Amino acid sequence: RQVIFSGIQPTGIPHLGNYLGALKQWVDLQDSVPSETKLIYSVVDLHAITVPQDPQRLRQYKREVLATLLAIGIRPERSILFYQSSVQAHAELMWILSCTASAGYLSRMTQWKSKLSLSEDANAMDTGSKAKLKLGLFSYPVLQAADILVHRATHVPVGEDQSQHLEFARECATNFNHTYQPHLIAPQTILSPAKRVMSLQEPHLKMSKSHANPLSRILVTDSPQEIKKKVMAARTDSINSVSFDPVERPGVSNLLHLLSILDKQSRSPEELGTLHAGLNLKNFKTLVAETVAESLDGIGARYNEVMSRDDGKYLDHVEKKGAEKARESAEETMALVREAIGF
Ligand code: TYM
Repeated sequence: RQVIFSGIQPTGIPHLGNYLGALKQWVDLQDSVPSETKLIYSVVDLHAITVPQDPQRLRQYKREVLATLLAIGIRPERSILFYQSSVQAHAELMWILSCTASAGYLSRMTQWKSKLSLSEDANAMDTGSKAKLKLGLFSYPVLQAADILVHRATHVPVGEDQSQHLEFARECATNFNHTYQPHLIAPQTILSPAKRVMSLQEPHLKMSKSHANPLSRILVTDSPQEIKKKVMAARTDSINSVSFDPVERPGVSNLLHLLSILDKQSRSPEELGTLHAGLNLKNFKTLVAETVAESLDGIGARYNEVMSRDDGKYLDHVEKKGAEKARESAEETMALVREAIGF
């Protein structure tokens, strides 16, 4: 039996990179997989506290992300939706996996290095960085592995930046299975065609919630006016025509990529570059803005509706029901795991 699991951090309203790289697949899988396939999607608040958080804001962000998932079309009758901290087995399995996971492997992973602004190939850390690196940020991938393995997920739909974490999760399953009994399943990664959506302001960086400039990302709840403002302000260059040339023209090429991902006829960025060669940048950006706005049409309105439904109690209700089902799913695995270890 197939099980699909994925997660998103509650660090603000999801952006177009989250949506096209992962969340849209979460929605589409609901109708493309057989009805007996389990779909489990989590708002991963335990992961969020690997960097400092304000408690009020964290509570708010969790609700906002849950409301966004409903607004884009996740159906709670079909998919299990829950906050990670509601299901304690995630943290329990994390500890168990920590006892067979390799610290050397973790030390070579890139996310904690980028959060500390160290270069990706940094091997030795200075004393200052060591003091700043919290154990939770270092072992972040072990918790992510536990999320996936505790539900014995077979498939994990994510953007490309999560590939390294998924590789590590497979390693964690293998380590556990060798040490104890083969109860855990090594999951497969599902990447969407939009595996890496780039920043509108710095086209060599991926679109991210943590970039300082809000013009660098389109939020899925943005109005057509906001989308237009951000796309018109996107960093391009001084050549006032369209061509696909990722090296010389990264800004324009990113917009062509975006257009290609959203193209109903699935044309490549190269083809679209040739097709729109005659447009000036203003008209080209207008076209991109309209296409993006059309793909996000209605999400903002549904978001507002879901946030306020039942005086906000609807969201809590959905989460409570989802957490119950997620606890059941996790307990099936934990019973086997505890028995295998000798607890
Ligand atoms: P997070 O919250 O950073 O992002 C959620 C999803 O969005 C994808 N994504 C992107 N895809 C394409 N282009 C981009 N610019 C872009 N930015 C983000 C991410 O790849 C991700 O799929 N560690 C995870 C959360 C997590 C998780 C898990 C995922 C925790 N446990 C278990 C899968 C399975 C994260 O921080 O995602």
